[in-house]
Amino acid sequence: MERFSQLNQLLAHIWSEVEQGGREPGHPYNTPTFGTVSSRGASLRTVVLRRVDAKARSLLFHSDCRAQKIKEIQHQNRVTWHFWDSNSKQQLRLMGEADLHFDDELANEVWQSSHPKSLKIYVKPTAPNTKVDQPRSGLSEQVESVRLSELAQVASGRENFAVVRTLIDEIDFLHLHPEGNYRASFVWTPQGVESSWMIP
Ligand SMILES: Cc1cc2nc3c(=O)[nH]c(=O)nc-3n(C[C@H](O)[C@H](O)[C@H](O)COP(=O)(O)O)c2cc1C
Repeated sequence: MERFSQLNQLLAHIWSEVEQGGREPGHPYNTPTFGTVSSRGASLRTVVLRRVDAKARSLLFHSDCRAQKIKEIQHQNRVTWHFWDSNSKQQLRLMGEADLHFDDELANEVWQSSHPKSLKIYVKPTAPNTKVDQPRSGLSEQVESVRLSELAQVASGRENFAVVRTLIDEIDFLHLHPEGNYRASFVWTPQGVESSWMIP
């Protein structure tokens, strides 16, 4: 198992793995935990990592604009991502500021380039979190059990669609390694990135 001893090589490895997670369903980093702050404490949930731009330090996922996490971000946009790869035994915590995109160029572009199957969950007339008297998805019948191949079939979901983008400014890395655990921190400031090893 690789054991990193150069901070710059480790940082390149981290971004490469996170980028891979954003491209490959089944990669351990494809379904990370996304954390916001609510009035009741930390608020955590699994999301699908949809797009990563290492150069821009941005991570992106899709959501319903009526979801609780959107309200939480509107209140406090400091967020945390958590990744764990049980094969490589590496944990990542990525912190940054989230911005929300509903009816703008980025949201339109992501909607247009997504597969209709991944967008059908937005064809949901009743908002997420609404209490109901029996277990049900809330999806409209027009998409529930239909083969979807065209965006036009999910067009009514567009108004509920949001893109959440995070600009990362801090990374905490931990490696459980047979030759000894080790940990590193990367913090971006206007002067550049401050990298350091830390005791785990
Ligand atoms: C494997 C998996 C992937 C998920 N992906 C997303 C996602 O990409 N976006 C999203 O908003 N919710 C996703 N969810 C649902 C969230 O975990 C969560 O239950 C839902 O968004 C409500 O969260 P909230 O009330 O904090 O907004 C996913 C759940 C699972 C189990």
